[in-house]
Amino acid sequence: MSGYAVRAEGLEKRYGEKRALDGFDLAVREGTVHGLLGPNGAGKTTAVRILSTLVKLDGGSARVAGLDVARQPREVRARIGLTGQYAAVDEVLTGRQNLEMFGRLFHLGGSRARLRAGELLEQFDLTDAADKGVGKYSGGMRRRLDLAASMILTPRVLFLDEPTTGLDPRGRGEVWDSVRALVTGGTTVLLTTQYLEEADKLASHITVIDQGRSIADDTPDGLKSTVGGDRIEVVVAERADIPRAVKVVARVSDGEPESDETELRVHAPVTDRVAALTEVARTLQDEGVRVEDIGLRRPSLDDVFLRLTGHRTDVTEDEDIKGGTPKDVKRDAKEAVA
Ligand SMILES: Nc1ncnc2c1ncn2[C@@H]1O[C@H](COP(=O)(O)OP(=O)(O)O)[C@@H](O)[C@H]1O
Ligand SMILES: [Mg+2]
Repeated sequence: MSGYAVRAEGLEKRYGEKRALDGFDLAVREGTVHGLLGPNGAGKTTAVRILSTLVKLDGGSARVAGLDVARQPREVRARIGLTGQYAAVDEVLTGRQNLEMFGRLFHLGGSRARLRAGELLEQFDLTDAADKGVGKYSGGMRRRLDLAASMILTPRVLFLDEPTTGLDPRGRGEVWDSVRALVTGGTTVLLTTQYLEEADKLASHITVIDQGRSIADDTPDGLKSTVGGDRIEVVVAERADIPRAVKVVARVSDGEPESDETELRVHAPVTDRVAALTEVARTLQDEGVRVEDIGLRRPSLDDVFLRLTGHRTDVTEDEDIKGGTPKDVKRDAKEAVA
């Protein structure tokens, strides 16, 4: 093996005129969580569908667990797990019954299926809820059950397509814990997400995708440093004080301060964070400038996206709450407008 669990080069996928993937590259190291980060419609699901052999590629090549997805789809399928938009758990059954059913579907046999269900319930912290109907599960519990179901055969590579979309912060945190536990078990995870914070929290490497192409590939910290390091931010009380604040900030900053006249905000990159903050706060006070707020800000992945693409990620979190379909409705609506 090459040390890569997934390797894709120049992937192309067209739907009519639409290029869902347009020369997409990806390399995922074994035993890591790799984030595929991009806004709605970027091509994340298409990439996952190709890599998991559900959809044929129109160009380029991809290997998963060392196998060619176009030439060896059955062998690939035997080594992967997939969860996200294909959640197939049965509402009427309990969590345990669902997992046992999946186990038998995968030909584990009754007693091994029971054993595996018990292990997975434990691993995904569902033991207490094991014998409750899935209809009564919270969103986070359901997603964890989906994860457990995709882990029945301990896949080498697991594809998680937006595993936390629509979950509340608590459910999201629960799923994050489960994903972390997966990797300690040796599984490689490719996780797609629109949540910048999620990629930052979980992934050791991130590929940013936009309009069917990889536009960046780096560690979370590396990505953040492409937009510059930490910044000092001062919000003054009076607009007339902005020029004075700019002067004061300029003395400690590494580059020209920028100011925002409507938000009364002055900000600039700094290296010696605490010294800069102390110095600016003291000088502004000495000069009698009234300060509403002052602080240090680390760049977010949102900033990275803006820098790379020139536009924001326009994720509206509460629109996706109701599960699978609204996302597609939103996508179609977006395209109708475009
Ligand atoms: N089955 C399909 N038929 C037509 N267009 C599609 C289909 N699947 C995806 N697309 C289009 O391809 C682009 C990428 O979609 P998708 O891979 O679902 O993006 P993401 O998962 O990042 O939101 C979008 O413009 C989408 O509308
Ligand atoms: Mg998608």
